[in-house]
Amino acid sequence: MKKFGDEYIRRFGLSRIIEHWLNAAVFAVLVLTGLSQKFHDYSVSQWIVMTLGGIDVTRLIHRYTGILFAGLTIPHILAASFGFLFLKWQPSIIIHKNDFRDAIVNIKYYLGLEEHPARCDRYDYKQKFEYWGVVVGGLLMIATGAILWMPAFTARFLPGEFIPAAKALHTNEALLAFLVIVIWHIYNSVFSPEVFPIDTVMFTGKISKERMMHEHPLEYERLFGVSLEGSKAEKTSEEEMMT
Ligand code: HEM
Repeated sequence: MKKFGDEYIRRFGLSRIIEHWLNAAVFAVLVLTGLSQKFHDYSVSQWIVMTLGGIDVTRLIHRYTGILFAGLTIPHILAASFGFLFLKWQPSIIIHKNDFRDAIVNIKYYLGLEEHPARCDRYDYKQKFEYWGVVVGGLLMIATGAILWMPAFTARFLPGEFIPAAKALHTNEALLAFLVIVIWHIYNSVFSPEVFPIDTVMFTGKISKERMMHEHPLEYERLFGVSLEGSKAEKTSEEEMMT
Protein backbone atom coordinates (compact mmCIF):
# COMPACT_ATOMS: atom_id res chain seq x y z
CA MET A 1 0.00 0.00 0.00
CA LYS A 2 1.21 3.49 -0.79
CA LYS A 3 2.68 5.17 2.27
CA PHE A 4 2.28 8.91 2.72
CA GLY A 5 4.97 9.27 5.40
CA ASP A 6 4.40 12.57 7.17
CA GLU A 7 2.13 14.27 4.61
CA TYR A 8 -0.50 16.38 6.36
CA ILE A 9 -3.89 17.87 5.47
CA ARG A 10 -5.45 20.94 7.11
CA ARG A 11 -8.42 19.87 9.28
CA PHE A 12 -9.10 23.01 11.34
CA GLY A 13 -8.38 26.70 10.70
CA LEU A 14 -6.86 29.07 13.27
CA SER A 15 -10.25 30.41 14.43
CA ARG A 16 -11.46 26.89 15.33
CA ILE A 17 -8.22 26.19 17.23
CA ILE A 18 -8.47 29.46 19.19
CA GLU A 19 -12.17 28.78 19.90
CA HIS A 20 -11.36 25.28 21.18
CA TRP A 21 -8.66 26.44 23.60
CA LEU A 22 -10.70 29.44 24.82
CA ASN A 23 -13.56 27.03 25.54
CA ALA A 24 -11.19 24.66 27.35
CA ALA A 25 -9.78 27.49 29.52
CA VAL A 26 -13.22 28.93 30.35
CA PHE A 27 -14.61 25.46 31.12
CA ALA A 28 -11.64 24.70 33.41
CA VAL A 29 -12.25 27.91 35.41
CA LEU A 30 -15.99 27.13 35.69
CA VAL A 31 -15.30 23.58 36.86
CA LEU A 32 -12.71 24.74 39.39
CA THR A 33 -14.84 27.53 40.85
CA GLY A 34 -18.13 25.58 40.59
CA LEU A 35 -17.09 22.17 41.90
CA SER A 36 -15.20 23.74 44.79
CA GLN A 37 -18.56 25.24 45.87
CA LYS A 38 -20.40 21.96 45.35
CA PHE A 39 -17.83 19.91 47.29
CA HIS A 40 -17.10 22.58 49.88
CA ASP A 41 -16.28 20.05 52.63
CA TYR A 42 -13.18 18.77 50.84
CA SER A 43 -9.87 20.32 51.85
CA VAL A 44 -8.86 20.72 48.18
CA SER A 45 -12.03 22.80 47.58
CA GLN A 46 -11.29 24.94 50.62
CA TRP A 47 -7.73 25.42 49.39
CA ILE A 48 -9.01 26.55 45.93
CA VAL A 49 -11.55 28.95 47.46
CA MET A 50 -9.02 30.45 49.90
CA THR A 51 -6.36 30.76 47.16
CA LEU A 52 -8.82 32.64 44.96
CA GLY A 53 -9.55 35.08 47.80
CA GLY A 54 -12.59 33.61 49.56
CA ILE A 55 -16.09 32.43 48.66
CA ASP A 56 -17.35 35.82 47.45
CA VAL A 57 -14.48 36.18 44.96
CA THR A 58 -14.91 32.54 43.87
CA ARG A 59 -18.62 33.11 43.18
CA LEU A 60 -17.85 36.32 41.31
CA ILE A 61 -15.20 34.63 39.15
CA HIS A 62 -17.66 31.80 38.43
CA ARG A 63 -20.45 34.15 37.36
CA TYR A 64 -18.33 36.38 35.11
CA THR A 65 -16.59 33.37 33.56
CA GLY A 66 -20.13 32.07 32.97
CA ILE A 67 -20.78 35.19 30.89
CA LEU A 68 -17.62 34.46 28.87
CA PHE A 69 -18.85 30.90 28.37
CA ALA A 70 -22.19 32.20 27.06
CA GLY A 71 -20.21 34.66 24.88
CA LEU A 72 -18.46 31.70 23.24
CA THR A 73 -21.40 29.28 23.01
CA ILE A 74 -24.20 31.52 21.72
CA PRO A 75 -22.20 33.23 18.89
CA HIS A 76 -20.91 29.77 17.88
CA ILE A 77 -24.48 28.47 17.49
CA LEU A 78 -25.61 31.63 15.65
CA ALA A 79 -22.60 31.57 13.30
CA ALA A 80 -23.02 27.84 12.58
CA SER A 81 -26.76 28.27 11.89
CA PHE A 82 -26.07 31.27 9.61
CA GLY A 83 -23.34 29.31 7.81
CA PHE A 84 -25.58 26.30 7.18
CA LEU A 85 -28.57 28.41 6.13
CA PHE A 86 -26.95 31.10 3.97
CA LEU A 87 -23.31 30.23 3.21
CA LYS A 88 -23.75 26.58 2.14
CA TRP A 89 -21.51 25.26 4.96
CA GLN A 90 -21.52 21.48 4.99
CA PRO A 91 -23.71 20.18 7.86
CA SER A 92 -21.02 17.58 8.63
CA ILE A 93 -21.61 17.68 12.40
CA ILE A 94 -25.36 16.96 12.14
CA ILE A 95 -26.34 13.53 13.51
CA HIS A 96 -27.35 11.18 10.69
CA LYS A 97 -28.91 7.72 10.75
CA ASN A 98 -25.55 6.38 9.45
CA ASP A 99 -23.99 7.34 12.79
CA PHE A 100 -26.16 4.76 14.59
CA ARG A 101 -25.21 2.19 11.96
CA ASP A 102 -21.49 3.09 12.35
CA ALA A 103 -21.69 2.68 16.14
CA ILE A 104 -23.20 -0.82 15.74
CA VAL A 105 -20.63 -1.76 13.05
CA ASN A 106 -17.76 -0.70 15.36
CA ILE A 107 -19.14 -2.59 18.37
CA LYS A 108 -19.36 -5.71 16.17
CA TYR A 109 -15.86 -5.02 14.83
CA TYR A 110 -14.42 -4.80 18.36
CA LEU A 111 -16.20 -8.09 19.20
CA GLY A 112 -14.64 -9.72 16.14
CA LEU A 113 -18.02 -10.08 14.37
CA GLU A 114 -17.23 -7.61 11.59
CA GLU A 115 -14.20 -7.63 9.29
CA HIS A 116 -13.72 -3.86 8.93
CA PRO A 117 -14.41 -0.88 11.20
CA ALA A 118 -17.11 1.67 10.24
CA ARG A 119 -16.17 4.02 7.40
CA CYS A 120 -16.75 7.48 8.90
CA ASP A 121 -16.94 10.91 7.35
CA ARG A 122 -15.47 14.21 8.60
CA TYR A 123 -16.83 13.62 12.13
CA ASP A 124 -17.47 10.15 13.50
CA TYR A 125 -20.35 9.33 15.85
CA LYS A 126 -18.16 9.74 18.98
CA GLN A 127 -17.06 13.22 17.93
CA LYS A 128 -20.67 14.19 17.18
CA PHE A 129 -21.78 12.88 20.59
CA GLU A 130 -19.18 15.05 22.30
CA TYR A 131 -19.95 18.12 20.21
CA TRP A 132 -23.71 17.97 20.82
CA GLY A 133 -23.11 17.19 24.48
CA VAL A 134 -21.14 20.42 24.77
CA VAL A 135 -23.70 22.48 22.80
CA VAL A 136 -26.86 21.15 24.51
CA GLY A 137 -25.20 20.82 27.93
CA GLY A 138 -23.70 24.30 27.52
CA LEU A 139 -27.11 25.86 26.78
CA LEU A 140 -28.55 24.09 29.84
CA MET A 141 -25.71 25.41 32.03
CA ILE A 142 -26.22 28.96 30.73
CA ALA A 143 -30.01 28.89 31.29
CA THR A 144 -29.81 27.32 34.75
CA GLY A 145 -26.82 29.48 35.74
CA ALA A 146 -28.80 32.60 34.81
CA ILE A 147 -31.75 31.39 36.95
CA LEU A 148 -29.41 30.81 39.93
CA TRP A 149 -27.89 34.24 39.42
CA MET A 150 -31.28 36.02 39.34
CA PRO A 151 -33.74 33.90 41.37
CA ALA A 152 -36.03 36.79 42.34
CA PHE A 153 -36.23 38.02 38.75
CA THR A 154 -36.93 34.44 37.53
CA ALA A 155 -39.74 34.02 40.08
CA ARG A 156 -41.56 37.00 38.54
CA PHE A 157 -42.08 34.99 35.32
CA LEU A 158 -41.79 31.31 36.26
CA PRO A 159 -43.14 29.17 39.12
CA GLY A 160 -40.82 29.12 42.16
CA GLU A 161 -40.12 25.39 41.66
CA PHE A 162 -37.90 26.34 38.73
CA ILE A 163 -35.20 27.62 41.10
CA PRO A 164 -34.43 24.38 43.00
CA ALA A 165 -34.91 22.49 39.71
CA ALA A 166 -32.32 24.76 38.04
CA LYS A 167 -29.95 24.18 40.94
CA ALA A 168 -30.30 20.38 40.68
CA LEU A 169 -29.78 20.49 36.91
CA HIS A 170 -26.82 22.91 37.08
CA THR A 171 -24.92 21.05 39.78
CA ASN A 172 -25.47 17.52 38.37
CA GLU A 173 -24.83 18.49 34.75
CA ALA A 174 -21.60 20.17 35.95
CA LEU A 175 -20.37 16.91 37.45
CA LEU A 176 -21.45 14.93 34.38
CA ALA A 177 -19.70 17.38 32.00
CA PHE A 178 -16.54 17.28 34.12
CA LEU A 179 -16.49 13.46 34.09
CA VAL A 180 -17.19 13.26 30.35
CA ILE A 181 -14.29 15.63 29.66
CA VAL A 182 -11.88 13.93 32.04
CA ILE A 183 -12.74 10.32 31.15
CA TRP A 184 -13.87 10.46 27.54
CA HIS A 185 -12.26 13.51 25.96
CA ILE A 186 -8.88 13.27 27.67
CA TYR A 187 -8.75 9.54 26.96
CA ASN A 188 -9.49 10.13 23.25
CA SER A 189 -7.04 12.99 22.87
CA VAL A 190 -4.18 11.81 25.10
CA PHE A 191 -4.28 8.18 26.24
CA SER A 192 -5.91 6.41 23.28
CA PRO A 193 -3.26 4.21 21.60
CA GLU A 194 -4.20 5.84 18.26
CA VAL A 195 -2.90 9.26 19.38
CA PHE A 196 -0.69 8.67 22.45
CA PRO A 197 1.23 10.67 23.76
CA ILE A 198 -1.00 13.49 22.43
CA ASP A 199 -3.35 14.23 19.55
CA THR A 200 -1.70 17.22 17.86
CA VAL A 201 -4.63 18.15 15.56
CA MET A 202 -5.97 20.86 17.90
CA PHE A 203 -2.49 22.40 18.15
CA THR A 204 -1.43 22.37 14.51
CA GLY A 205 -4.84 22.12 12.83
CA LYS A 206 -3.37 19.36 10.62
CA ILE A 207 -3.99 15.62 10.37
CA SER A 208 -1.75 13.09 8.66
CA LYS A 209 -3.09 11.61 5.43
CA GLU A 210 -2.60 8.16 6.84
CA ARG A 211 -4.70 8.91 9.92
CA MET A 212 -7.38 10.57 7.81
CA MET A 213 -7.61 7.51 5.55
CA HIS A 214 -7.99 5.38 8.64
CA GLU A 215 -10.38 7.54 10.70
CA HIS A 216 -12.26 9.60 8.08
CA PRO A 217 -12.11 7.54 4.88
CA LEU A 218 -15.32 9.00 3.39
CA GLU A 219 -14.01 12.56 3.74
CA TYR A 220 -10.67 11.47 2.29
CA GLU A 221 -12.38 9.90 -0.74
CA ARG A 222 -14.45 13.03 -1.33
CA LEU A 223 -11.45 15.37 -1.03
CA PHE A 224 -9.13 13.35 -3.27
CA GLY A 225 -11.70 11.81 -5.60
CA VAL A 226 -10.40 8.29 -4.93
CA SER A 227 -11.89 5.09 -3.57
CA LEU A 228 -10.21 3.43 -0.59
CA GLU A 229 -12.46 0.36 -0.72
CA GLY A 230 -9.80 -1.70 -2.58
CA SER A 231 -7.05 -0.73 -0.16
CA LYS A 232 -9.05 -2.17 2.78
CA ALA A 233 -8.16 -5.74 1.78
CA GLU A 234 -4.55 -4.70 1.27
CA LYS A 235 -4.47 -3.08 4.71
CA THR A 236 -5.92 -6.20 6.33
CA SER A 237 -3.32 -8.49 4.81
CA GLU A 238 -0.62 -6.00 5.81
CA GLU A 239 -1.92 -5.98 9.41
CA GLU A 240 -2.06 -9.79 9.39
CA MET A 241 1.58 -9.97 8.31
CA MET A 242 2.55 -7.74 11.20
CA THR A 243 0.80 -9.88 13.84
C1 HEM B 1 -20.05 24.31 31.89
C2 HEM B 1 -20.05 25.32 32.66
C3 HEM B 1 -20.38 25.38 34.14
C4 HEM B 1 -20.04 24.53 35.15
C5 HEM B 1 -19.22 23.25 35.06
C6 HEM B 1 -20.64 25.06 36.38
C7 HEM B 1 -20.57 24.48 37.62
C8 HEM B 1 -21.21 24.93 38.76
C9 HEM B 1 -21.28 24.24 40.03
C10 HEM B 1 -20.68 22.85 40.29
C11 HEM B 1 -21.95 25.02 40.89
C12 HEM B 1 -22.20 24.71 42.38
C13 HEM B 1 -23.60 24.16 42.55
C14 HEM B 1 -23.78 23.67 43.96
O1 HEM B 1 -23.47 24.42 44.90
O2 HEM B 1 -24.24 22.53 44.10
C15 HEM B 1 -22.34 26.22 40.20
C16 HEM B 1 -23.06 27.27 40.75
C17 HEM B 1 -23.44 28.39 40.07
N1 HEM B 1 -23.21 28.66 38.74
FE1 HEM B 1 -22.24 27.46 37.44
N2 HEM B 1 -21.30 26.23 36.07
C18 HEM B 1 -21.17 26.45 34.72
C19 HEM B 1 -21.70 27.48 34.00
C20 HEM B 1 -22.34 28.57 34.58
C21 HEM B 1 -22.84 29.68 33.82
C22 HEM B 1 -22.76 29.80 32.29
C23 HEM B 1 -23.38 30.56 34.73
C24 HEM B 1 -24.02 31.89 34.49
C25 HEM B 1 -24.73 32.19 33.46
C26 HEM B 1 -23.25 29.97 36.04
C27 HEM B 1 -23.72 30.52 37.23
C28 HEM B 1 -23.74 29.89 38.45
C29 HEM B 1 -24.34 30.45 39.64
C30 HEM B 1 -25.03 31.79 39.76
C31 HEM B 1 -24.17 29.50 40.66
C32 HEM B 1 -24.63 29.55 42.14
C33 HEM B 1 -23.47 29.91 42.99
C34 HEM B 1 -23.38 31.38 43.08
O3 HEM B 1 -24.31 31.99 43.60
O4 HEM B 1 -22.39 31.93 42.61
N3 HEM B 1 -22.61 28.76 35.92
N4 HEM B 1 -21.88 26.14 38.91
